[in-house]
Amino acid sequence: MTAVVDKRSDSEVKKEKKGPAKKKKPKLLNKFDKTIKAELDAAEKLRKKGKSEEALQAFTELLRSYPQSPRAKYGKAQSEDDLAEKMRSNEILQTAISTYGEVADMPNPTADLVKLALKRQANRQQFLGHIKRSVMTLQKLVDRYPDDISIKNELGVGYLLLGDNNNAMNVYEEVLVLAPNDGFAKVHYGFILKAKNQIAESIPYLKEGLLSGDPGTDDGRFYFHLGDALQRMGDQEAYTWYELGHKRGHFASVWQRSLYNVNGLKAQPWWTTKETGYTELVKTLERNWKLIRDEGLAVMDKERGIFLPEDENLREKGDWGQFTLWQQGRRTDKSCKHVPKTCALFEKFPESTGCKRGQIKYSIMHPGTHVWPHTGPTNCRLRMHLGLVIPKQGCRIRCANDTREWKEGKVIIFDDSFEHEVWQDANSYRLIFIVDVWHPELTPHQRRTLSPI
Ligand code: LMR
Ligand code: MN
Repeated sequence: MTAVVDKRSDSEVKKEKKGPAKKKKPKLLNKFDKTIKAELDAAEKLRKKGKSEEALQAFTELLRSYPQSPRAKYGKAQSEDDLAEKMRSNEILQTAISTYGEVADMPNPTADLVKLALKRQANRQQFLGHIKRSVMTLQKLVDRYPDDISIKNELGVGYLLLGDNNNAMNVYEEVLVLAPNDGFAKVHYGFILKAKNQIAESIPYLKEGLLSGDPGTDDGRFYFHLGDALQRMGDQEAYTWYELGHKRGHFASVWQRSLYNVNGLKAQPWWTTKETGYTELVKTLERNWKLIRDEGLAVMDKERGIFLPEDENLREKGDWGQFTLWQQGRRTDKSCKHVPKTCALFEKFPESTGCKRGQIKYSIMHPGTHVWPHTGPTNCRLRMHLGLVIPKQGCRIRCANDTREWKEGKVIIFDDSFEHEVWQDANSYRLIFIVDVWHPELTPHQRRTLSPI
């Protein structure tokens, strides 16, 4: 992985900055708070020094003497917030969250103070996973300050976190009416269009948003989806964006574009069994391929519905189904009932059954299928493909710039964090068995603690 280059050093995408050069300092003190400024400053000084307990006490006392002081309330919230961080206490954080909320209900707080308090309240609610509440907080802010674009932008993110793309879309449409050049709104709007499969429409928004250089736009996901949209339109400019995403530290390389990575792992598109060190597993798969095939075929005959259609929008066209036995390191007992001997083979192979960032599954692909070039989410796994039913010709898989074919009874291994693409142009179906394994260089500790994907 190359170092992250200075984000400002790229002349290719630089353009003149628009708008006011400098941000105005927020006004936090109302008329009353100005009369007690010295006392507020003294308390704030404690907080700035990291003395959160003393600061909390000072702000609490100030509030006792001046219950009408919005700034003291905000200082109390911030001190609780600091303390929560220091003590790693969600309970204290909850208190801070309520106190932030109370700032808005004080008599005559300044607009800047309300915005800071409620934005932070929403941010901490998100941190605790209380996404709905954070959306309500931001909605309250939007209602109070409908012309404030940055709040609307954050509300859009809240809706996206909720999975409510329609409301997010409405919010960004509103922003783009108020501020047609807002880069943050553009990348997010483009991202939503892309998720709705409005590929061509998404491109100008993602592109212009990234070109804006606005804060919050330099995110790997936007380069990822812009490149993907361009590839689907057959536009080679995709690689210009992948290159830039790589230069800016989002992708390990132009070909390897997973976004959930452990740095420094050996990275190459295709692996030999020996390189993985998982020789026992590969031997077991190749020796038992007929058993695995026959159990799979029996399921195909009797329980066709168990093969679920690929649902990640990776296909240009065609019919591609999967029957999953393990995912995220968990065995699907219901599925294993149908293929018990196959599942039993895996008892000895925690590198695969314990791979919380992968799956074990059958994959059936019918003639006339094309899988778009795509990239898996993580560099933490390698993907084994065991050929089960392979038509004589017409089926192939490209990983990076190396295209291969499956053979019945043989395992091929690739790293699906590299761009790969699949064609099925045969005249009968293709069945393979997919076994993900932990990247061999991950330590036992990493295998235990990495979050599931
Ligand atoms: C993939 O893993 O993306 C595909 O290669 C799977 C398949 O069935 O070919
Ligand atoms: Mn794939």
